[in-house]
Amino acid sequence: MNPIIDQLSRHRSIRKFQPRAIPRQSLEAFVRAGQCAATSSHVQAYSIIHVVNPDNRARLAELAGGQPYIAECSDFLVFCADMKRPTEAAERAGADVVRGMTEQLLVASIDTALMAQNVAIAAESEGVGICYIGGIRNNPAEVSELLRLPEHVYPVFGMCLGYPNQDPEVKPRLPLPAILKEDYYQDTRDAELVAEFDATMHRYYQVRTGGNKDSNWSEQLKPLFTSKLRPHMQSFLRDRGFGKQ
Ligand SMILES: Cc1cc2nc3c(=O)[nH]c(=O)nc-3n(C[C@H](O)[C@H](O)[C@H](O)COP(=O)(O)O)c2cc1C
Repeated sequence: MNPIIDQLSRHRSIRKFQPRAIPRQSLEAFVRAGQCAATSSHVQAYSIIHVVNPDNRARLAELAGGQPYIAECSDFLVFCADMKRPTEAAERAGADVVRGMTEQLLVASIDTALMAQNVAIAAESEGVGICYIGGIRNNPAEVSELLRLPEHVYPVFGMCLGYPNQDPEVKPRLPLPAILKEDYYQDTRDAELVAEFDATMHRYYQVRTGGNKDSNWSEQLKPLFTSKLRPHMQSFLRDRGFGKQ
């Protein structure tokens, strides 16, 4: 359609990286592109920790549930929702500030995700592969301690960046009518569209694993909904000063 949409349509997460380093100048250009994302009320409620220390990279790989590519990629970034900086700025300007609102948690998390996705797109436009790492929320308190994150800052996800050493297939997405609805929410076709997508994903897994993975989208979702996912998050966020009211 156009080069940007073409590039977006070729996204796939990369988990094997060449030992080659991303030039610092390129990394900074990706982060600057990240900063260009829209941001709620211009609040820019995020900070990125570029984890350079190899011991810390290895520790984060463990804390994220054993994801070796965190240590192996060229650069690992931890994207943090940061309400500390903007709140303190308003306070220094004389505001009687209110902290800990759930809406502030949403604003900071959304800002962080939008910025990170711009970083991802910029990186991919330069032939760099990326993988988001939500696994850092397996142990968010330990991650926060390692990165010395203060109150009102929390690690949303990490991102591995590096030159790909694999060329995985693009993963299919749900059929458009399942997610794009006209005028109001209607789910009469959802079961049928999900069944169609399950068949697509089954074929994808069969091809990707040489016939070894007999699964589909709905099957893959089961563990997400049969156990409580990261039940520590509510108390962790409260401890960090988020979402108290
Ligand atoms: C917020 C977020 C967290 C993720 N966390 C992880 C992770 O911890 N480990 C991992 O290998 N992939 C992770 N992923 C990658 C997803 O598994 C991947 O994007 C999804 O399966 C779709 O595949 P694709 O990116 O290749 O299209 C994460 C993606 C997102 C958006």
